[in-house]
Amino acid sequence: MKPRVFTSVAEWRAERASERFAGRSVGFVPTMGALHAGHRALLERARAENERVVLSIFVNPTQFNDPTDLAKYPRTLDEDVALAAGLATDVIVPSPEAMYPDRYRYRVTELEFSRELEGAHRPGHFDGVLTVVLKLLNLVQPTRAYFGEKDWQQLHLVRGMVEALFLPCEIVACQTVREADGLAMSSRNRRLAPADRARAAAFPKLLRAGTPEAAAGALRGAGFEVDYIAERDGVRLGAVHIGGVRLIDNVRV
Ligand code: PAF
Repeated sequence: MKPRVFTSVAEWRAERASERFAGRSVGFVPTMGALHAGHRALLERARAENERVVLSIFVNPTQFNDPTDLAKYPRTLDEDVALAAGLATDVIVPSPEAMYPDRYRYRVTELEFSRELEGAHRPGHFDGVLTVVLKLLNLVQPTRAYFGEKDWQQLHLVRGMVEALFLPCEIVACQTVREADGLAMSSRNRRLAPADRARAAAFPKLLRAGTPEAAAGALRGAGFEVDYIAERDGVRLGAVHIGGVRLIDNVRV
């Protein structure tokens, strides 16, 4: 079945308060669109565990520290709604003006972990992520919200925020979905030129090399520019650039 699509926040809020949602469990999958098999897996899990499934598609400007990255972010709304058919019951596609009536004067800041790894390379990134996730959780009021483990630091910061602010929602972590050659699915992969896409498959393999230093060396040797390779809680995380595209991934060690 085709999902209902809401571009107006006011109309969505009226729908959320309607009989259709009364007493129903609600699964929520927040995304920035350009959906792929990884998002599909989140939607499938949400579908299996809830009576209603809400998908949000919002390219959140406040989490982009690089305006070129924001401008180049793929936007494929029609394909996204088609992929969600039969999985999401409702899709919300708010405008930046509707999401930020305060012009981002109010925001959520975490002062420790958000400053490391991704946060050290993308100043302000997690303020933008946490703020928009809080806004979306308030708009959707889900029973459960689904996040991919590929964005490991994001997942942990969102969990921390939900606990710290007593938000009545369960955060469900879902395994990273990979292409046949091992590259983690990402909306950014479609920006890779074919030769760079082929080389990118080495990223998760080389990330596993002996030590973080060895992995960084092996990745540089294979033509990647390395932002960081680090370990936290038995997980090795990395961010690299190839062909002008920034990729992140993580593996258990
Ligand atoms: O992971 C993403 O796609 C985004 O960071 C999220 C959680 C939808 C917030 O904009």
